[in-house]
Amino acid sequence: MIEGYPEIPKTIGELKAAPQIPDWSAMRESWDWDDVWEELDTPDGLINKAYECIDRHADGARANKAAIIWQSASNEIETYTYSDMKKQTNKVANALKSIGIEKGERVFLLADRIPELYFSCFGILKIGAIMAPLFSAFGPEPIKDRIDRAEGCTVITTPKLLPKINAIRDQLPSLRNVIVINHREGGDVADSDISYSSIVDPASEEFEIEKTGAEDWSVMHFTSGTTGLPKGAAHVHSAIVSQYATGKYVLDFNDDDIYWCTADPGWVTGTSYGMFAPFSNGVTSVIDEGGFGAKRWYEVVQNHKVTVWYTAPTAIRLLMRSGAKVAREHDLSSLRYVMSVGEPLNPEGVVWGIEAFDLPIHDNWWQTETGAIMCANYPSMPIRPGSMGRPFPGVHVTVVDDEGNEIAEAETEGALVVKPGWPSQFRTYWNDQERYDSRFINGWYYTGDRAKMDADGYIWFLGRDDDVINTAGHLVSPFEVESALIEHEAVAEAGVIGKPDEVAMEVVKAFVTLSDGFEESPELLRALNRHCRTRLGPAVAPREIAVIDILPKTRSGKIMRRLLKARELGLDEGDTSTLEDD
Ligand code: PRX
Repeated sequence: MIEGYPEIPKTIGELKAAPQIPDWSAMRESWDWDDVWEELDTPDGLINKAYECIDRHADGARANKAAIIWQSASNEIETYTYSDMKKQTNKVANALKSIGIEKGERVFLLADRIPELYFSCFGILKIGAIMAPLFSAFGPEPIKDRIDRAEGCTVITTPKLLPKINAIRDQLPSLRNVIVINHREGGDVADSDISYSSIVDPASEEFEIEKTGAEDWSVMHFTSGTTGLPKGAAHVHSAIVSQYATGKYVLDFNDDDIYWCTADPGWVTGTSYGMFAPFSNGVTSVIDEGGFGAKRWYEVVQNHKVTVWYTAPTAIRLLMRSGAKVAREHDLSSLRYVMSVGEPLNPEGVVWGIEAFDLPIHDNWWQTETGAIMCANYPSMPIRPGSMGRPFPGVHVTVVDDEGNEIAEAETEGALVVKPGWPSQFRTYWNDQERYDSRFINGWYYTGDRAKMDADGYIWFLGRDDDVINTAGHLVSPFEVESALIEHEAVAEAGVIGKPDEVAMEVVKAFVTLSDGFEESPELLRALNRHCRTRLGPAVAPREIAVIDILPKTRSGKIMRRLLKARELGLDEGDTSTLEDD
């Protein structure tokens, strides 16, 4: 336990519904993934995420139940039932087939949170193509790297975001189609592009879903590594088994829940828990197109009577800044359960939930590669503030020592690992099998995180094993930022680190050395900032850029980000014996 933050008994924020996991230990003992398969509808062993999420409900008792309550950035509301979703996704599936997209091809999505993004996602899955979402705040460079790596054939986007695609289009030989969702924003679509409505409006509402099996590809999400280009973590259709199960048992869904996941589908939380978990469980999801604002968010909860809320630590810290009083000025009594993921949630954040909503916040942990939640603080269990909770019943997640042996002694730091074989485990890094294989050693999947376990099996996050930066829950590769910086003529070399930040956990900070003939000046720094924001977009561009004389390097020429960070933080510089300039 962290000093000053004792265990929160489960009686605080007493559940308004019986928890789906009444007894974690008993469920862990008796867990069988086959039981979850039984709850889904998998005729002849076929499984398709779109069928499990949409058609299964549309063809049954939930046909007229709202799947999505959508609130636009300017507060219009549109509601789509499961039956509406079936028709719309069938239309997209027919439209995509009509332009020749085939099973297994990669179709990218680059759009804000509008209904067509959701229709498209499931339309792609229905034809057996691979759905690869991109974050709309990416600049052209990260978009290009991702489409290129996956050899994407199609991008579905909006007029507002189209210029980012046009900027890189000639560098993407695999890209055959650019589909533009133009009917909301209006405007003409160029001859080189396809208007969404021109192919979707006339398409039939009937569609026979491609016969996909458990191991057929479904979704690809890009994630950042320390070196090299972003990695396309590819998942299969049976990942829905984990997403359904964790929706039921961790998100604790009941049929009458109104659920709100604040994550954008450009990131994995926005698909696994913004789409797959809630829809496969047949609950109603609120989707807000608008951005963060404390008042806006409380109004969303109040107006739509949200019961289950899944958000992120950075958002919670921003809500804390605006004060519990603002929360108390709204009627948030519909809420029964609040969760957070993506970065460490400070214990203050956990207990602040009680001050603001009479509910502690439940932290849980997973990653792009795991596809679904791996450990959690469950509704029926006391919360240990600062801990990510206990393993999901069907998953073996633990900490191991340097030899890969499970650490028996409580509170001892080790590598956080998972025993391979859970349904939503990624199956490859696209076109990079070697990197994928390197994550599996001694019979474990290595997550790249460091952690410890306490005597009762609660897992505590200690840090990452690599240089990947976690800014507001979004992983950023220092390599990607360094590459963009050195493309600027003034930059000779660049080293990029995550600098601790009170709200975003880390912000991207770049150190650069200048090419001959350039001198540091406010204009030059502004130009570098502009360069990064244009190429990388605001989600990836450095928040701070500093010019230095020499970058610390190993004798083999590798930039020592660790040392840059230690210097930035005024910490012990550790072992510098491999330094070039020591
Ligand atoms: O380092 C861990 C951190 O985010 C990483 C996963 O990021 P990503 O692949 O983008 O997946 C996002 C879906 C959650 C992890 O390896 N992380 C995630 N959740 C937590 C966390 N760090 C601390 N506490 C968490 N609850």
